[in-house]
Amino acid sequence: MCGIIAYIGDGEAGKILVDGLKRLEYRGYDSAGVAIDTGEGITIKKGAGRVDELNEMLGFSKLPGKRGIAQTRWATHGEPNDVNAHPHTDCSGRIALVHNGIIENYLELKEGLMERGHTFKSETDTEVIAHLIEEELKSSENFEEALRRALLKLKGSFALAIIYAGERDRLYLVRNESPLVLGIGEGENFAASDVPAFLEYTNRVVFLDDGEYAVIGKDFYEVKRIEDGERVEKEIQEISWTLDMAEKAGYPHFMLKEIYEQPQAIKDAIYGNMETIGEIARAIDEYEKIFIVAMGTSYHAGLYAKYLFQHLLGKVVLVEDASEFRYSAEKVVDENTLVIAITQSGETADTLAAIKLAKAKGAKVLSVVNVVGSMATRLSDLVIYTHAGPEIGVAATKTYTTQLTVMALLAMAIAELRGVNISTLKEALLRVPGLVEEVLKHDGAIRELSKSLKEARDFFYIGRSFNVPTALEGALKLKEISYIHAEGLSAGELKHGPLALIEEGVPVVAIAPSGRLFEKMVSNIKEVSARKGFIIALGDSEELKKVSDVFVEMPSLPEELTPIVYAVPLQLLAYHLAVLRGNDPDKPRNLAKSVTVE
Ligand code: AGP
Repeated sequence: MCGIIAYIGDGEAGKILVDGLKRLEYRGYDSAGVAIDTGEGITIKKGAGRVDELNEMLGFSKLPGKRGIAQTRWATHGEPNDVNAHPHTDCSGRIALVHNGIIENYLELKEGLMERGHTFKSETDTEVIAHLIEEELKSSENFEEALRRALLKLKGSFALAIIYAGERDRLYLVRNESPLVLGIGEGENFAASDVPAFLEYTNRVVFLDDGEYAVIGKDFYEVKRIEDGERVEKEIQEISWTLDMAEKAGYPHFMLKEIYEQPQAIKDAIYGNMETIGEIARAIDEYEKIFIVAMGTSYHAGLYAKYLFQHLLGKVVLVEDASEFRYSAEKVVDENTLVIAITQSGETADTLAAIKLAKAKGAKVLSVVNVVGSMATRLSDLVIYTHAGPEIGVAATKTYTTQLTVMALLAMAIAELRGVNISTLKEALLRVPGLVEEVLKHDGAIRELSKSLKEARDFFYIGRSFNVPTALEGALKLKEISYIHAEGLSAGELKHGPLALIEEGVPVVAIAPSGRLFEKMVSNIKEVSARKGFIIALGDSEELKKVSDVFVEMPSLPEELTPIVYAVPLQLLAYHLAVLRGNDPDKPRNLAKSVTVE
């Protein structure tokens, strides 16, 4: 899991690459490096650490040169250290490359190359690619052919940027199961794992597909197939995100900025889909066998959708962790199956594998995605975009509430097709952005509350029905950025084991809006109180206030839609606890924004 960037043009490559790397740090940040053609061969600077520190120490941005490649790494093979940092080179040092992904057959390739006299410096899977190209170059007409022949020998996922000392007017880019996009400028061209890396310079992009490579020069770009070297015509797309949208806009962290962007993001999710959702509803309504596949936060959005589909439509829906589905669903998916894949990045390896399995079995695939042009969108029959805009913080916030929003829209659209009267829900959904705005006003109070909770060792989150996913998501948010142990569970499950862990002062967050199961929640809260647990309750009723230690007043709305609004204070709680404990909520340890390896 890494971020890669490449540049060729009249600008100063060092500076452009470093700026791009900083915008890609959400993809990995344990080490970084650059390879720049300085006119005296290819100069490589790299090391373990964050981009800023390394740039300060090694002077990446001061290297002279007009073409170069760079990477910020999240280790998969070989510990994060100076030697394993990218770029990697062949024996001659004339071929340098950066990689995002995993080469599955690297050990076998490495052995063969060593037998032929190649010397390896690192423990990475990546280095074999440079040596493999070097080896192929011995018997190929030109570098491009050697590269293509080497690529044909690789198994696994790889996005690559390659610089070769022997061809000073070009760079090579490759995509196979790891994201890579070209940025087309005026007299300069770029490539990166994600658009914000070069958005400052151009918003004209070309998305590469799996099995393709590109050759870019300062005034040209060509996309070809790895398989046969044949040219592929690609359309240039214009991205409407401004760089400002991808930057912090004055907030101390991206995560907080993104939490505050939710009213607008939810509005965009509603209005951006309103016209087309009916068509999608018609296309999937007939399916009775439905799987939702996703990971992490997106999985929680899937669980919410399950409750909604069952409640509003009487449809049986199975929600599956995509990493399990990909290995267990082969015999149960067929052409009568609908698979809904929820993935904000559209690049999560397990979710993509689940989609591929579904397609191979003839199922219809609908993806719910935030990143336009991502792999999931290209593999699916139908796509709903969440329109949340770029999310840089590793913890999903606005992409989650927009996933919930579009799943609600979809369930409502199907209900409408069936003649169910959903006017109250529809009207309430339109009020949700405003209600989220209201709830954000609790920020100060939640920060205060966090001060008294920052030493807590464990947290529990409980909810029922639509808010079981809210409990799970609240707990996930807390653990991933504050590093406090947290469990989310259905309130009914409490008595079946976890209650044994409740003792004096243990924080229990109860998600308890008015609705069918409110009284049941109150009973569960009392069970916790009897064990002297510390109840933080989210709800809209006086009765709840009486049974809680801390009451977070929430606006009233139909219980079906409460998860969208109730997620927000839980995000704020996790955020403030993380900051108070001295953590960087945007870059939690051991985690990366999109998990593009298995
Ligand atoms: C949660 O905050 C995480 N970012 C993570 O659980 C994420 O939701 C998961 O990795 C799935 O990502 P996706 O939506 O991009 O597929």
